[in-house]
Amino acid sequence: MFVTRQLPGGALHSLDQHCNVTIWPHSSPPSPEQLRDACTRAEGLLCTLNDTIDQPLIAAAPHLKVVSSCSVGLDHVDQSALAARGIALGHTPHVLTDATADLCLALILAASRRLAEGEAFVRSGAWAQQPGWDPELLLGRDLRGTTLGLLGLGPIGQAVARRALAFGLNIVGWTPSGRQVEGVMSASFDQVIEHSDILSLHLALTPQTRAIINADILSRMPRNSLLINTARGGLIDEDALIHALSHKHIGGAALDVFAREPIGADHPLLDCPNLTVVPHLGSATQGTRAAMTQLAVDNLLAGLQGLALPHAAPPIGDFS
Ligand code: GLV
Repeated sequence: MFVTRQLPGGALHSLDQHCNVTIWPHSSPPSPEQLRDACTRAEGLLCTLNDTIDQPLIAAAPHLKVVSSCSVGLDHVDQSALAARGIALGHTPHVLTDATADLCLALILAASRRLAEGEAFVRSGAWAQQPGWDPELLLGRDLRGTTLGLLGLGPIGQAVARRALAFGLNIVGWTPSGRQVEGVMSASFDQVIEHSDILSLHLALTPQTRAIINADILSRMPRNSLLINTARGGLIDEDALIHALSHKHIGGAALDVFAREPIGADHPLLDCPNLTVVPHLGSATQGTRAAMTQLAVDNLLAGLQGLALPHAAPPIGDFS
């Protein structure tokens, strides 16, 4: 069995009591070729969202019985190709809901109150050139009474809504499943786009949702609105976002995720005004990552024994 990364928490240590395990020893993930080589003999694969689980990999892994991804999102996996071979697929839902919703609120607050600009202002010495407290310095927006729009009302969207209610935000939401959520006024996709002062994305990345935020959608968002993304970078057409931010068609964006990760210091997004960025930290707390590792190990061991996975992937096409 092959594990593509050292992972936080103690759960990986228990694996060698159950099976012959190889853990990739390096701090960066294996290349596609290295992953293919490692999988030629493996019956089980524990991977992360950095690893592309595609047809060539699956074809090179004749003994594979289970793929266990230490992530809730599964857009890096060709689920149809796994299903066609009868290979079980697991993921790590629920345990990262609170941490991701917390980060989403952190980004909403950071973008609304211009924290990145404030920090840069102090560190650059610009504040020291001023007399001190300034009644007009870096004025942001009040959250109370502001409309937060949620696209996607799965567990993370719902957890964001619970937190946002405490800040006095009015919440509207759309989800492909039509699910009703307490405290969230259901609205059409277009209504959410056109009436949200802050728009936050909580959809899985699928062929249906890829670039769902495109130039047309950005042009219909209110002029001063903020776009928040803690889901997947591929939901946004980044060229269109760069255009919208640099022409001030929207007020700003706060992003935890990008179409291709990692992004470099020369990424054109970073030249945009009013942009807050963090490096895919949604689930990045000690406790959450340890819990994710445990779920991934539980899935892997169940799959190796031919048992139903305790946290099996949802059916293909369930993308809310
Ligand atoms: C993180 O992005 C995850 O899918 O777990």
